[in-house]
Amino acid sequence: MRVLSVVGARPNFMKLAPVDRALVKRGVEHVIIHTGQHYDPGMSDAFFEELWIPAADHHLGVGSGSHAQQTAAVMQRLEPFLLDVRPDLVLVYGDVNSTVAAALVGAKLQVRVGHVEAGLRSGDWTMPEEINRVVTDRLSDLLFLPSRDAAENLGAEGVPADRMHFVGNVMIDTLCWALPQALAFDAAARHRLAGGPYVIVTLHRPSNVDDPAVLRELLDALGRLAAKVPVLFPVHPRTRNRIGELGARRAAGSGLELLEPLGYLEMLSLVAGAALVVTDSGGLQEETSFLGVPCITVRPNTERPITCTHGTNRLVLPRGDSVLAAAERALGRRSPARPVIERWDGKAAERIVAVVCDDARFDVDGAAASPPQVARRAAAIPVPLGAS
Ligand code: UD1
Repeated sequence: MRVLSVVGARPNFMKLAPVDRALVKRGVEHVIIHTGQHYDPGMSDAFFEELWIPAADHHLGVGSGSHAQQTAAVMQRLEPFLLDVRPDLVLVYGDVNSTVAAALVGAKLQVRVGHVEAGLRSGDWTMPEEINRVVTDRLSDLLFLPSRDAAENLGAEGVPADRMHFVGNVMIDTLCWALPQALAFDAAARHRLAGGPYVIVTLHRPSNVDDPAVLRELLDALGRLAAKVPVLFPVHPRTRNRIGELGARRAAGSGLELLEPLGYLEMLSLVAGAALVVTDSGGLQEETSFLGVPCITVRPNTERPITCTHGTNRLVLPRGDSVLAAAERALGRRSPARPVIERWDGKAAERIVAVVCDDARFDVDGAAASPPQVARRAAAIPVPLGAS
């Protein structure tokens, strides 16, 4: 059997790593294509090295561009390669532009497509990732679900239950694999934070960083927080560019410690020891929930409601006062007990490979019986702080 994985952006790489290991363990030929959507060494190469992912078999070299340009370039450059390799299955990961582009190419060439992290929905059509999720799921033959609510979402869209496999969360596979190394790394001590509480921040969503007024308000709030507790902010390239446009003086004077993007182990080490994470990332909502670290997600909604209902996540609107109030409330809320979320157990990739190699099934009870008109969400829809 020959499986071809297409990855391109930072959050794809943590999802690929455990799947690659599990496929190789079963003797499956695994071809890896890197689209080049993310190309900075700190956004790409560092993850391949730290997560022991073999070098990609082929780079499409797509780079940055508008959504249409990026999606089209992946499609154009991937098609001849797929025609040549003729895999039995194309695996795509998450919700980035590379994901939907690769799913389109595979589906049109009548190659089976498997989507790792299927069925998540924010219900927010203004998010490019939501469009990517819906389209990718519609094109995929095998849907690998990280949480039970994903089956309800897919059922509501009329997706047949026999395509769904509730395998669990591959991000947590990677976290479990890397945690001992991350703790040994002791990043807090390296950043002279050992012993005291500190906050980690990441922000990169267009809705938070592309509007200068919103970004300025968020930076001001984080600056006020930094006056009380150390705040470290590894900055995504998109955000770095936007902060640059606001003027370097503002960032320098905000009291925040702005860092280059961090590698996986250093970031995990810092997050595991943090008193609080403030973010708009999808992966961090999951990682903090698994670790029991309080998390504030600066978004009006989430495609990962289970992190609010069963984990440590709270939504807050991108308003300075709301973010500051939520952060102050969350500081000190860390409990020694870690939440337990079903099938977030480090074995999701093994289940995926059992489906791919053995035709195993991981049913979600009741999903098939839930017709679209009576479909309901397993997890209540979280309401963000600051919403009137
Ligand atoms: C993409 C994903 C988003 C994911 C994020 C993780 C889509 C639609 N969005 O957003 O879901 O959470 O990755 O990081 O696919 N840039 C660099 N170097 C790089 C990559 C990007 O400088 O290696 C800069 C470029 O200015 C680029 C901008 O960042 O234009 C945005 O990159 P892009 O891949 O378009 O989207 P992200 O914001 O990274």
